[in-house]
Amino acid sequence: MLFFLYLLFMVSMTSSHDPTETFPHKATLDPNYHIFWKTNQSSITFEAHVAAHGYVGFGLTANASGAMYPGDVVMGYVSNGQSYFGDYHTDRHGQPIRDGSQDWTLLLATEDNEGTIMKFSRALHTRDKPDDIDINSGISHVIWSYSREDPIAPTNYTYHRALRGSMDLELVSGGGTPVGRALL
Ligand code: HEM
Repeated sequence: MLFFLYLLFMVSMTSSHDPTETFPHKATLDPNYHIFWKTNQSSITFEAHVAAHGYVGFGLTANASGAMYPGDVVMGYVSNGQSYFGDYHTDRHGQPIRDGSQDWTLLLATEDNEGTIMKFSRALHTRDKPDDIDINSGISHVIWSYSREDPIAPTNYTYHRALRGSMDLELVSGGGTPVGRALL
């Protein structure tokens, strides 16, 4: 019996929600959406764990109220073992527009029974203005969205309905726990 309990404990300790590496920062954006991240002098790496099998959207908005535009977002998904990913910007409540300059790099996109993991990185400051938003010390207005089903094509992402939100996060900090403030 004790051995069985030990096994159960070990399995729960190694859930697939564990990040693929150690990240100093984590925020729960929604009970189904966890984001891990790390920064160095010049770049930032995020790892999103989303308990759904559709697309994952993540990014920044210049709008302090947390509106989805004007925003700088990535969207991606995994379908039949193939991953789709891109750097987009938003200018309205509708389909984001693919940036002419793709500044986010996809490091990993995978699905399992529990959901989707997407890992991606970018320079804190890119030259793609006005489509990208710089990431500086202090508060960033983070936006996120996801869907339960894959888009029919990478050019046709579906409306997220209630599966979206925003949060103020201190993405670049000298250490300590980042500040999280849910907006909408
Ligand atoms: C796939 C194409 C998309 C469509 C058609 C779409 C459409 C909309 C619409 C109609 C609203 C207003 C109604 C509501 O609150 O649900 C909205 C809000 C919102 N969307 Fe999107 N969206 C898309 C992609 C995204 C992406 C990629 C993100 C973030 C990464 C995002 C984040 C948000 C947020 C945070 C809100 C609430 C704040 C606001 O009203 O602006 N959306 N979206």
